[in-house]
Amino acid sequence: MSARNIIALSGSLRKGSFTSAVLRAAVAHAPVGLNITIVDTVRHLPLYDEDLADAGAGDAMRAQIRAADGVLIATPEYNHHLPSPLKNWLDWASRPYGKHPLVEKPVAVFGVSPGSTGAKLAVDYLRYIVPSLGAKLIGDELALGSIKDHLDVDTGKVSDEVSSSLAALLLALQSSFD
Ligand code: FNR
Repeated sequence: MSARNIIALSGSLRKGSFTSAVLRAAVAHAPVGLNITIVDTVRHLPLYDEDLADAGAGDAMRAQIRAADGVLIATPEYNHHLPSPLKNWLDWASRPYGKHPLVEKPVAVFGVSPGSTGAKLAVDYLRYIVPSLGAKLIGDELALGSIKDHLDVDTGKVSDEVSSSLAALLLALQSSFD
């Protein structure tokens, strides 16, 4: 079986993001056969505007998704929801309705927070909207709370517990291609 190409994105834009650090740890330990590339389209998209969409503003990001075999999304939670930049990415990705590149695409998601919940409400929203958009939601719920106890910000290493949770999610993503 040839390797599968996955694009991965973080819902946090800040340099010291815990979410992005955990995403990098996940990517570093990806199973053989999954080539995961972290992309920064979330940062560079304009705010969703149908006039810009009509002028082709989302074409490149949708082509990026279409070219990938799957998508991995890591999110923090802002005010009990997705951070706006990630919601904006979803809005760009999900047009036109029914014909966008997330249709049938395997998508795995996880949340990260310094608080105890692991961004559960943002994860819940993703786990609701991903299948609603026609994508294939992969894996069990994964909400990584109290992340400061599980992540060494200097080395980027995560605890064994977090590492095995991430490994299980990525194995589920890999298995979705069997
Ligand atoms: C937060 N934070 C937060 N945390 C949480 O568990 N539930 C929430 O609803 C919110 N709401 C929220 C709103 C806004 C505007 C900010 C800036 C922050 C705290 C958040 O979990 C914390 O800042 C994380 O460190 C953000 O993730 P990154 O940037 O470290 O990946």
